[in-house]
Amino acid sequence: TLTQAEKAAVVTIWAKVATQADAIGAESLERLFSSYPQTKTYFPHFDLSQGSAQLRGHGSKVMNAIGEAVKHIDDIRGALAKLSELHAYILRVDPVNFKLLSHCILCSVAARYPSDFTPEVHAAWDKFLSSVSSVLTEKYR
Ligand code: HEM
Repeated sequence: TLTQAEKAAVVTIWAKVATQADAIGAESLERLFSSYPQTKTYFPHFDLSQGSAQLRGHGSKVMNAIGEAVKHIDDIRGALAKLSELHAYILRVDPVNFKLLSHCILCSVAARYPSDFTPEVHAAWDKFLSSVSSVLTEKYR
């Protein structure tokens, strides 16, 4: 679980990320699909070319969910319960992919806000994304 200081760091960086959430979401997915092309197999029904409407729409949904998790940082499990069931029972996304996407989100945020992305913020944001991923993958067994 996150310490008070880590939660505060997540909330602070999120306030900036939220203003460009759609762009950051789309960029994170672009990074995911280009660096880890095997992840594209979950999206056979999508047009994954750079800047496509589906990519941007999906990036926006993903970032919205992350925003919900930030808003309910003391109850991420409750906030993402429905999404957790979706990813586990319906989409059946292999949990390793959550690490890859988290990494790409981390890179997108770091690239956009380099001076805010101190080692402390990096660590807090990484831990937060890892909590989100744990919640989204915990229903698998
Ligand atoms: C759908 C969030 C990780 C594959 C979704 C939706 C959200 C979401 C909000 C839309 C749900 C809806 O329409 O009701 C997240 C978050 C993630 C994450 C917050 C982790 C931080 C992943 C990963 C993959 C993945 C790692 C696979 C590489 C999918 C697929 C869909 C989906 C295939 C359905 C897309 C569609 O047909 O519209 N996700 N997701 N997700 N997610 Fe995730």
